[in-house]
Amino acid sequence: MCGIVGYVGERDAYPILIKGLHRLEYRGYDSAGVALINEAGKLNVFKAKGKVAELESFVTDKDTTGHIGIAHTRWATHGEPNTANAHPHYSESERLAIIHNGIIENYSVLKAGLTQEGYTFKSDTDTEVLVQLIEYTQVDRQVDLRTAVQLALQQVVGAYAIVVLDQEHPDTLIAARKGSPLVVGIGDGEYFLASDATPIVEYTDKVIYIDDEEVVTINKGRDVEIVTIGNVQKTPEIKRLEMSLSQLEKGGYPHFMLKEIFEQPRTLTDSMRGRINVRQDNISLSGFIDNRERFLNAKRIIITACGTSWHAGLIAMYAIEEFARIPVEVEYSSEFRYRKPVIDKDDVVIAISQSGETADTLAAIQLAKEHGAFIFSICNVVGASIPRVSHSGCYTHAGPEIGVASTKAFTAQVVALTMLALCIGREKGTLSPDKYLAIVRELGQIPDKIECVLGQDKRIAEFAKMFMYAQNFIYLGRGYNYPVALEGALKLKEISYIHAEGYPAAEMKHGPIALISSEMPVVVVAPRCGTYEKVVSNIQEIKARKGRVIAIVTEGDDLISKIADFVIEVPCTEECLTPLLTVIPLQLIAYHIAVVKDRDVDQPRNLAKSVTVE
Ligand code: AGP
Repeated sequence: MCGIVGYVGERDAYPILIKGLHRLEYRGYDSAGVALINEAGKLNVFKAKGKVAELESFVTDKDTTGHIGIAHTRWATHGEPNTANAHPHYSESERLAIIHNGIIENYSVLKAGLTQEGYTFKSDTDTEVLVQLIEYTQVDRQVDLRTAVQLALQQVVGAYAIVVLDQEHPDTLIAARKGSPLVVGIGDGEYFLASDATPIVEYTDKVIYIDDEEVVTINKGRDVEIVTIGNVQKTPEIKRLEMSLSQLEKGGYPHFMLKEIFEQPRTLTDSMRGRINVRQDNISLSGFIDNRERFLNAKRIIITACGTSWHAGLIAMYAIEEFARIPVEVEYSSEFRYRKPVIDKDDVVIAISQSGETADTLAAIQLAKEHGAFIFSICNVVGASIPRVSHSGCYTHAGPEIGVASTKAFTAQVVALTMLALCIGREKGTLSPDKYLAIVRELGQIPDKIECVLGQDKRIAEFAKMFMYAQNFIYLGRGYNYPVALEGALKLKEISYIHAEGYPAAEMKHGPIALISSEMPVVVVAPRCGTYEKVVSNIQEIKARKGRVIAIVTEGDDLISKIADFVIEVPCTEECLTPLLTVIPLQLIAYHIAVVKDRDVDQPRNLAKSVTVE
């Protein structure tokens, strides 16, 4: 999730652009860049690795004059975070410059075609391919820039929000979007473009929200023009901004955590983009394809992680053993690194980390590498330390996760690990083609099914308040939903400061049931699959001891809904995918209890987003 900003008007563009990048840094900041056309009509591009401040230092002695420009803060998806891969990208002639937020899925095919036409590339990015395609189209078809953008985007598969600057038209910006946000700000004789309204709100409250497959032409001396990539004229609809800057950064949500919970349908779509082709009923994971023999010959898979990432690893254990029939061990990195584990050179080690900087997981990887194991990392930050020291991996593409309590990264990890388990099982022949097909198709339905669960947010908020004074919670689950119970307990602990424990539901009889009383809420994750009947018995045992039960059940459940005190329904899905739905109510329960207890939801006490020390 990158940040893009554009300006054309009477003022100096650079200060407006750089301030806009700072406003957008929450969207990602592994590199940044700016392109400006100066008074002499020269297009200048400056880029730097790191935060926006690095770019500011780099350009102190550069020509940053000009009344038109574009700027970009990058959250890498293709290509390491470095200056070459930073945006803006020049076209071959260096007449055009482009910035882009999104993923072009078919960029390899487009790049091969352009290479055959003699184009060369200075970066590994999908974005550079797009600007070269626009230039090639303009020259080959002898059309104007807007038409070239329309024609080029007709060949693109994927998501984009782009702005193109043309040295030969120093008063014009061409922008377009599909699947990534883009807003136009209307000033007095000046125009602004951005990924969201945060860089715009201090200059104007008049905005136009661009829709998918629309191409915008902004010219200092004229009104905004909008056409579709199919060249249908659209009437710009000017709206008034009503949100404050702080609200805008959170997308209108009160906290980043709630924003990130509600982003999950989109982030899971992004995590599957280019990897699951539902039309072809197929999963394509490059990290697996390039290393398939390592996985197919593995005698054991060791998963190492911490916290929420460890919970994702536990879910992966169920899926990999069920579908690929390879023994899996799930290790807390902090224990694994010190307990002198037996590690074999044929072992595959999967390291899971949202931040890619967790010290214990880095150390666990180092130990495994010393024993010759193959390291495959699941990470949300391109170019972070853990992917860099791994042999291969899979990025989760969930975008920056600001809330300390991990939510969208967790579900993205589960999707990535499930896709990996399915790929191994299908290649080994231990997973039937029909079952593989059913799960792949159901994965495509998960974002919409999460939307259904999110639609219950108001009701969950209401009943969560009834438990704000509880001193302790127990979370129970079985099978794939035992790790979900652990995750739900962790969410509650870390943001509401209420003690909570997760258990396999059947463990109640081995001690914890002594805790049950009317004062102890028990959350039971009980979708209708696997050992459902056993979970029903566990609930009855709790109710017989006056426990209060909050049950997460499958839509239409008419059994548990009669015995539990509170029921939250989730849509039916494949058993291995139920965690993606059952975790959502647990995220919301923790969030709303923390809010009503007036906790610092996004930065809970004593916690850091990334534990980079032991
Ligand atoms: C989860 O909500 C916590 N913030 C924490 O447990 C986190 O999952 C853990 O520190 C691991 O972080 P990582 O995924 O960045 O390695």
